[in-house]
Amino acid sequence: MTTTTKTTSMERKSVVGTAHTRVEGRDKVTGAARYAGDVPFAELAHGWLVLSTVAKGRVRSVETAPVLRMAGVLTVLHHGNAPRVERNFTGMMGVPPDPTTALFQDDRVPHRGWPVALVVAETPEQAREAAEALVVTYEEEPHDIAFSGDRPDTYPLDGHMPAVTEKGDLEAQLAASAVVVDAEYTTPEEHHNMMEPHAATARWEGGRLEVVDSNQGATWVQSDLANLFSLDAGSVRIRSEHVGGGFGSKGVRAHQVAAVMAATVLQRPVRVVMTRRQMFSLAGYRSPTTQRVRLGADADGRLRALEHDSLSLTSTVHEFVEPSAGVARAMYGADAHRTANRVVRLDMPTPTWMRAPGEAPGSFALESALDELAEKCGIDPIELRARNEPELGPVSGLPFAGRHLMACFREGARRFGWADRDPRPGVRRDGRWLLGTGTAAASFPAGAGPSTAGVTAEADGTFTVRIAASDLGTGARTALVLVAADALGVAPDRIRMHIGDSDFGPAMIAGGSMGTRSWAWAITIAARELRERLALGADIPPEGITVRSDTTEAVGALAQKERHSFGAQFAEVAVDPATGEVRVRRMLGIFAAGRIVNPLTARNQLVGGMIWGISMALHEEAVRDHASGGLVGADLAGYHVAANADVPLVEADWIDDPDPDDPVGIKGVGEVGIVGAAAAIANAVRHATGVRHRNLPIRPDRVLLAGAGSGSDAGGRDA
Ligand code: MOS
Repeated sequence: MTTTTKTTSMERKSVVGTAHTRVEGRDKVTGAARYAGDVPFAELAHGWLVLSTVAKGRVRSVETAPVLRMAGVLTVLHHGNAPRVERNFTGMMGVPPDPTTALFQDDRVPHRGWPVALVVAETPEQAREAAEALVVTYEEEPHDIAFSGDRPDTYPLDGHMPAVTEKGDLEAQLAASAVVVDAEYTTPEEHHNMMEPHAATARWEGGRLEVVDSNQGATWVQSDLANLFSLDAGSVRIRSEHVGGGFGSKGVRAHQVAAVMAATVLQRPVRVVMTRRQMFSLAGYRSPTTQRVRLGADADGRLRALEHDSLSLTSTVHEFVEPSAGVARAMYGADAHRTANRVVRLDMPTPTWMRAPGEAPGSFALESALDELAEKCGIDPIELRARNEPELGPVSGLPFAGRHLMACFREGARRFGWADRDPRPGVRRDGRWLLGTGTAAASFPAGAGPSTAGVTAEADGTFTVRIAASDLGTGARTALVLVAADALGVAPDRIRMHIGDSDFGPAMIAGGSMGTRSWAWAITIAARELRERLALGADIPPEGITVRSDTTEAVGALAQKERHSFGAQFAEVAVDPATGEVRVRRMLGIFAAGRIVNPLTARNQLVGGMIWGISMALHEEAVRDHASGGLVGADLAGYHVAANADVPLVEADWIDDPDPDDPVGIKGVGEVGIVGAAAAIANAVRHATGVRHRNLPIRPDRVLLAGAGSGSDAGGRDA
């Protein structure tokens, strides 16, 4: 089918909602797509970061002379000679950047793996060899990395939400409750480990700083780098065409700053790539959590009291909170309701956002506790949740912009075969395996951030869209093509989508499950206006007709309602009581996550989140050596993630849930898929074995020590 530019094709069927493979998919699988570490530059030099080998103290000396005599070495930057940067500013995300990015500004070492030098050489091999040969001496001080729920030195910390919410008399309601659950849950330190490591190439070009980078927001990195180096934002350009995963870790980090410093000093292009091992120190990570949940209910399961208190850690140089208690604020009401997010400062790297920050560990604790309550009340866990569905946001008091949690449970229960479930734990066997099923709820906030976009009608009948969006591999670029095609009323193959360039103007980051929605909004507004202009019969000049949009005002209206994506997670597990092995046999997630733009890639996102839930439930755990302050296995051999053999049939689907306040109906599918997934698996393990596991991951040794089938709970905080 062909159309001309001036046709207003009222009958054209919407392409939003139909499956499309990634528009850049062929380039990626054939190797034509270049990632930040692949783009060639003439005269390119290579920087290699040197990280501290002590957990606390001061750098006494950096022995540069022998290294500077090594083959190919161009310079060694450290606190004694590096350019100064501005540290006192609030970045685009409303917080100062992680101080790890204020590289080489003083001799202080606040954690193991702190960047202390950058060796720059002609080749990566020369840089690496020299970096490994560089002798740095330290004045070492005692360090403290002991994270525990018993610490006296914790304090509440606001993040993007208030630290504490309180309503009613908690102790009185607990005392009046027929059934009480009071349990502590722990989750370990976890690391993002996206496929593509952080990589940046910086160069000065015509008086402008240009950085080819892998990030979650080109204008975010532009703004923070401009602030750090006291430059006008206009003289900084960030390009980030393809990104191999981010999960929250790809903002401004040490590598970009190091590359800019070296490019400035040497006046030639410099590339800095993090190694996989360096990512474990420099990329941020998810804090471990200790969470206490207290639930008090009447005999019929109706909640009188809900308390969710979460402790996470932050570094001594920066405050970051993993807001795990936040999920309770949206999920369940109670006469008395208290949530708190606390932190303790340790000699550790600063944690950061990691896929569903707060909700991922928080839902493990809360949705496990709900399961415990259901069992104590003798009520089906889905029925228990139905009895506690709030009319309004339990803490906000705001109406929900669509809360279809129970519709997700109904559809999920039907497809999973929940109705036939025998609730008794530890009674199903398949040979040596004990079998069980579990369920949990999911939710994640649905919002939008201000964005600008430009849409151009070209004289040849095609359309060019420019927006500083970032496609982390999720299919965002493809989704935006479909959105633009619908808004313009043309076929997707007439859209040229250019993203990942800060010169396209400010745009929301790929984060908070808000990227696609925020960008789609800006594109839709510009495209609709352009379409109206074209409908008037305008002639298209050679330079085309461009309409720009800015959604800053429009997205502000979203705050008037409590707005979330929801979901129901189901898992079936098999547990071998002789080896302690837990196998997930199948998973089903049904979501209400707004209008689905591209079912192919949306399903991919949701399934990916659920697989991450398997990983979180059974595998992922970064173990620290208390003597050195470092990680025991800072690589993908030592840090286990779910791999193909761990992942069974995982199905994700959704119910119709368009957001009425969004021009396309989108809510967002980025993170809700992981929420509740680990709890569903832990609840299934309980159902299989009769043992409640409150510490993740559910390792074979923990299963064995708890004595599967004994009917007791898994013991101590770290067995
Ligand atoms: Mo995500 S943790 O909002 O990148």
